[in-house]
Amino acid sequence: SSLDDLYRRVIMDHYQKPRNKGKLDEAEGLTINLNNPTCGDSISLSLKLENGKVTDAKFLGEGCSISMSSASMMTEVVKGRTAEEALHLVQVFSDMMQGKSVDDSLDLGDIEALSGVAKFPARIKCATLAWKALEQGIKQGEQS
Ligand code: FES
Ligand code: FES
Repeated sequence: SSLDDLYRRVIMDHYQKPRNKGKLDEAEGLTINLNNPTCGDSISLSLKLENGKVTDAKFLGEGCSISMSSASMMTEVVKGRTAEEALHLVQVFSDMMQGKSVDDSLDLGDIEALSGVAKFPARIKCATLAWKALEQGIKQGEQS
């Protein structure tokens, strides 16, 4: 359908021109390194947390178009969110990957372009990698 075409274009755009590519240095933020055990692809996500808010997010990674575009979309959508909102977005994304209708009371940015991944179980891990890193980073930040 034309919606699938649009979503495919959005995914390729993020893959080819990733937003927020890079790494924050240690003094600036915390970094979470994760990989997808099924393929070995990896992500390194840096988050800057100040006063309970995500004020910056950057990522580096090696991976397929789904995993890298998901990371790019995630960093874009999470900036400026509170830790609580960020964890809520993690939940929204997880719901989306289960094919559930999602709570869109938060501005979801481009992440809805990945909703079709729910139909391809093998790719869900690809799409979710960056979000797992986000969840770990927020939880780690809340403890420190
Ligand atoms: Fe990575 Fe197809 S997008 S194998
Ligand atoms: Fe490795 Fe998608 S094939 S993250």
